[in-house]
Amino acid sequence: MKKLGVAVVGTGFWGRNHARVYKELESTELVAICDRDADKAKAVAGQFGVKAYTDSSQMLKNEAIEVVSVCTWSTSLAIEALKALRAGKHVLVEKPMATTTKQAEKLVLTAEENRVQFTVGFLMRFIPGLRHIREAVEKQKIGELVCATAKRVSQWPERIGDVGVVKDTAIHDIDVMRFVFGEDPIAVYAKAGCMRHRKFEDYALIMLTFEDGMSAFIESNWLTPYKTRMLTVTGSDAIMRLDYITQELWIEAANENIQPKYPWQEPLKAELQQFADCIIKKQKPLVTGEDGLKALSIAIAALKSSAKNRAIKLQ
Ligand SMILES: NC(=O)c1ccc[n+]([C@@H]2O[C@H](COP(=O)([O-])OP(=O)(O)OC[C@H]3O[C@@H](n4cnc5c(N)ncnc54)[C@H](O)[C@@H]3O)[C@@H](O)[C@H]2O)c1
Repeated sequence: MKKLGVAVVGTGFWGRNHARVYKELESTELVAICDRDADKAKAVAGQFGVKAYTDSSQMLKNEAIEVVSVCTWSTSLAIEALKALRAGKHVLVEKPMATTTKQAEKLVLTAEENRVQFTVGFLMRFIPGLRHIREAVEKQKIGELVCATAKRVSQWPERIGDVGVVKDTAIHDIDVMRFVFGEDPIAVYAKAGCMRHRKFEDYALIMLTFEDGMSAFIESNWLTPYKTRMLTVTGSDAIMRLDYITQELWIEAANENIQPKYPWQEPLKAELQQFADCIIKKQKPLVTGEDGLKALSIAIAALKSSAKNRAIKLQ
């Protein structure tokens, strides 16, 4: 089987993981990496035995590259993703995808115009327990859906200096809520603030409301001394709890508690495998560019809500 030629732009903490996984997958061949930091580019390329670039425009001329993962700083994701899409490559852009919704819309449009596959790095969707929750909600296995709460807290990873906790961290849960509820929220109210970060918010509490009175609550911060990543979904008959770190899932009703078992799997591996499969089989990815655009626009509305101290209606 011919392998898909892949490149990674931005090989810091996360891009190196993309490069490693592409090396491990049977359907992909890591061809090149690019980082604007020449020393880093050389070191990572050496580690994986591929060609190093410091300028992505040069790298994109390489016809062996069919797929590009964009893992640069959050504020340069859109520029790099746009270049790759315009060069006719299939693109996975990391979250938050772009700085503005206008940039994100441009990416979605460019992918369509160039007839290439485009996805956004919402990793949580590749955790089997979350798929179980979505299916249980869809089939009303916990009765009527009432609300969901997410907690994603840890210490500030100080390498993140160009966005705050909403666009970096809470955006995962914004996407999760859209996925679990199977619809878009109609309004957002948020309170965010900055305790230790020099420039951006490092804590946020976000409430999303959906039609028919359902609601979701997201707590994110970079202040908690330990890492917690939990989701609780409440239905009229039972609740479901997922620990994203251990991938354990609990379903608790008045008379019965069950714990469906899924073997732990690396979400990034599942995500990149699925994207490669979609390219090969010409299928739509689980996370579309439109999903990325919607999550980003809700994150931006949450920041606006906090600044204006009022709920913001979403279209
Ligand atoms: N989906 C997830 O769960 C997840 C997890 C971690 C990080 N991320 C995302 O991945 C991205 C990278 O995060 P990180 O923690 O690896 O950051 P990082 O600072 O460790 O690495 C970013 C790298 O990109 C390089 N870079 C920046 N602009 C560039 C450009 N225009 N061209 C080439 N190289 C460029 C930098 O030199 C640096 O090496 C962020 O957008 C972050 O939100 C996603």
